Amino acid sequence: MTPRRGNAVACARYGDDVTAQPETASPRPTGQPVLVAVAWPYANGAPHLGHIAGAYLPADIFARYHRMVGDRVLMVSGSDAHGTPITVRADEEGVSPREIVDRYHPVFLEIWDRLGISFDLFTSTMTDNHIRVSQEMFTRLLENGYVSVGETTQFYDPQAGRFLPDRYVLGTCPHCGYREARGDQCENCGRMLDADQLVDPRSRLTGATPQLRETSHYFLRLSALADELLSWLETRTGWRRHVINWAVQFVKDGLHDRAITRDLDWGVPWPTDELGPGKRIYVWFEAVIGYLSASKEWAATRAGDPEAWRTWWENPDATAYYFVGKDNIPFHTVIWPAMLIGHGGLNLPTDVPANQYVTFGGAKASKSAGIGRGVLEYLQALQPDALRYALATVLPEQNDTEISDPDIIRRINDELIANWGNLVNRVMAQINRFFDGVLPNVPGPAELGGAHAELLARVDGGLARVAGLMEKVELRAALRAAMEISAEVNQYLYREEPWKTVKVDREAAARSLATSVQAIAGIAVALAPFLPFSTERLADVLGVDLTVWKRQQVPAGRRLEWPGPLFTKLDPKALDVPA
Ligand code: MF3
Ligand code: ZN
Repeated sequence: MTPRRGNAVACARYGDDVTAQPETASPRPTGQPVLVAVAWPYANGAPHLGHIAGAYLPADIFARYHRMVGDRVLMVSGSDAHGTPITVRADEEGVSPREIVDRYHPVFLEIWDRLGISFDLFTSTMTDNHIRVSQEMFTRLLENGYVSVGETTQFYDPQAGRFLPDRYVLGTCPHCGYREARGDQCENCGRMLDADQLVDPRSRLTGATPQLRETSHYFLRLSALADELLSWLETRTGWRRHVINWAVQFVKDGLHDRAITRDLDWGVPWPTDELGPGKRIYVWFEAVIGYLSASKEWAATRAGDPEAWRTWWENPDATAYYFVGKDNIPFHTVIWPAMLIGHGGLNLPTDVPANQYVTFGGAKASKSAGIGRGVLEYLQALQPDALRYALATVLPEQNDTEISDPDIIRRINDELIANWGNLVNRVMAQINRFFDGVLPNVPGPAELGGAHAELLARVDGGLARVAGLMEKVELRAALRAAMEISAEVNQYLYREEPWKTVKVDREAAARSLATSVQAIAGIAVALAPFLPFSTERLADVLGVDLTVWKRQQVPAGRRLEWPGPLFTKLDPKALDVPA
C-alpha cells in the first residue's frame, strides 16, 4: 500500500525511522496520511505557467516535502473531460469532445513528467470508475435527503434549437457589471452565477437573445447544509485570509439550492431516468468527486488494495489539502464540503490553500486568451528546476504576482545560480583542485567548534524553519528560507577563503571546505522539494539520501565525482524566441 514512486521523486519510505536531530524534527508525529488534491484542469488546451504556479507546482512541492518527513502522501488529479470549455473547443474544431480530451490528456502527462510534478495518479473524468463513483455520490445524497427534483427554467437558443449550458450564455454580471460574465461564474468578481441572473444575456452559439424554458432538474439542497457548513468553516484555522473570508461570506450571504443536472449530451450520465432522457450530471458537481474517484482508482490499480483509499478519506487523523486557483474557491470551500457533509463519513478539506493569479507582464495568463507561452516551449530553453525555481519565487499565495521573461532569467541567473549553483560548483571545484576530489577527513563539528559548528547549527536551524513554513503551506517563504541558508554558507566561505589558506594552512582549507560540503548536503534537503532533478544529481555525488528530511553527514574520504555545474547560466536573450 505504498504510493507509487512519483517522477524523479524518491518517495519517503513509510514506516522508516526518520527521527531527525531535535532541531530538524518535524513538529508532529510523522507517518500521517496526507491527501494532496490538485485542481482538475480542463483538457481543452495545454497548461501555461499561470496554471503551473497556481496549483501544480505548489502541490508538488508540498507533496515532496511531506514524503520526505515520512508522511503517507497520496497526490491525485486528472483531466476534467466535461463541461463547456471542452464542448466549445470541440464545436469550434468540428470534432467530438472525446477527441479534444484524448489530445490534451497526454500533453498534461508529458508536462508533469518533464517538470517533475509527482502525481501518484493523474487520471481523467472519462473513466468508468469516475462515472460509478459520481453516481454513487449522487445516490447517497438523494437517500440522505440532500438532492431533490425541481422545475427550473433554462436558456434555450431559438436559432440553434437547443438548450444552452451555462457557459454558452454570456452577459453582464449583476454584481460587478462585468460585460463578459459567463452563465456559471463571473471571472471578474469570482461569484458563482446562474445563467438567468445575467443582465442582457446572449447566446454564445448564435448571439441570439436566449429564451427561458421550463425543464426539470435535480438540485443539491445547499440551503439544508448551510448551518453545518458555516460551523465547519468557523472551526478552520490557518487558512489563507482571502480564502476563509470569501467562503464564510459566501455562506452568510445565503446559499441557494443549485441544479446539478443539465440538458446535455456530453457528461456523466444520470443514474436514473426519472426526469426523462438526455440529462447529464453538471460538470461542477461531478468534477470535484474526482478527488475521491481518483483515490479509489489509485487504490485498485496502483496500490493493489481496493480499500486503500480509506486511509485518506475515512481515517480521522488524515489530512487533505486542496491546491486550486482562486476561481475554484467556491467549489472547494463550499460545494464540495457540502457534498461531503451530505454524504457523511468522508473527510473534509483540512485546508484549501488557493492561490491568486500570476500575471505575465501585466496580463492574466489564460489559455482562452492565448497569453503566455506554453510550458513545453519554456522547457526548450530552461532546465526544469530552473523554471520551477523562477515560478516558486512568485507563487501567488496571498496576492496576485507578476513575472515576465526577463524576470525569469534574472531569477535564475542572479538568485538560483549566483547564490546556490555557484556555491556548490565552487566548493566542488576546490575539493577537486586542492584535495584530488576526495572529501578531506576533518574532526566532527563538535570538535571543530567555532564558526564551523555554528554554520552547521545554522543549516539545521534553517531546515527546521523551512519545515515550519512548509507545514503552513507558505512555500514561497520556505524557498526564501532555504536560499538564505545558502547565502550564509557563501558568507562563511568568503570569511574562510580556503582558496587562499590552502597555500599556507592546508588543514584550515580542509576544515572550511569539508564543513561547506556538509552544509551543502543539508541545503540539498531543504531544496529537494523545489528542485528535485538537480538535488538528486547532487545527492548522488554526495552519497546522501533525499528521501528523508534530515541533514546527513557526507563520509570523509568519499570521492566526489563532479560532473560540472548544476545549472546553465542563461543568456539574457534566452527566451527571446517567438511565442
Ligand atoms: N476544470 C475546472 C477548472 O479548471 C475544475 C477544476 S477542480 C475540480 O476550473 F475539482 F472541480 F475538478
Ligand atoms: Zn462579477
